[in-house]
Amino acid sequence: MNLKQQAALHALQYVRSGNIIGLGSGSTMTLFISALGALLKSGELSDIIAVPTSEETARQARQAGVTLATLDEHVRLDIAIDGADEVDKDLNLIKGLGRALLREKVVAIHADEFVIIVDKTKLVSQLGTRVPLPVEVVSFAVGSQIRWLNQLGCSAELWLSEEGSALLTDNGNSLVRCWFDNGIEDVEHLDSVIKSRTGIVEHGLFLDMATKVIVANETGITEMQSTR
Ligand code: A5P
Repeated sequence: MNLKQQAALHALQYVRSGNIIGLGSGSTMTLFISALGALLKSGELSDIIAVPTSEETARQARQAGVTLATLDEHVRLDIAIDGADEVDKDLNLIKGLGRALLREKVVAIHADEFVIIVDKTKLVSQLGTRVPLPVEVVSFAVGSQIRWLNQLGCSAELWLSEEGSALLTDNGNSLVRCWFDNGIEDVEHLDSVIKSRTGIVEHGLFLDMATKVIVANETGITEMQSTR
């Protein structure tokens, strides 16, 4: 069993029959969804309703036999489970390299518990050192947003598909990737500065949101718990 799989299986113990859950996106979540489907089929779990964070997660969940709903139908979720691209010691995250950051953040703020599942490669001492920060922007005047992001001390680029066209999110927006040479110095400041810019929809910094991070490494599972 690989590390992502171990983290995914460990998280299942926090899902109870009757729960309304948020389902994140990405390869670790793919493993979680298929394990969840197996427990539903065997009857070990029942009456789970899930709100998916992407069209791809919705497709996988349907295939696994998970009942889906929207946040309009269920405004409060017992728990949301998701992967992450980077995790620091304060449980702050960079997410969104699976291109689902906006819906992931919306789902997470409706959940009582926000549990992150990662392998040890996602742990960093400073956010922005391992991966770029993804930023979702309206496609109108995207060049202007890239120029503005560049003056924040990063190297910002439009996220292109392999064919060279702008990648669009499930919401029809463009994505910009911001690379920081030495990581992000002040995540709270960057969070508020980017959020205040008209035309920028959301960014991949998830600060003070995770309640638990499940980390799989070769020696087993470690849990990092939020103190708030
Ligand atoms: C999806 O948009 C992301 O936030 C994912 O949660 C993140 O990219 C982790 O993906 P993997 O589980 O594929 O590493």
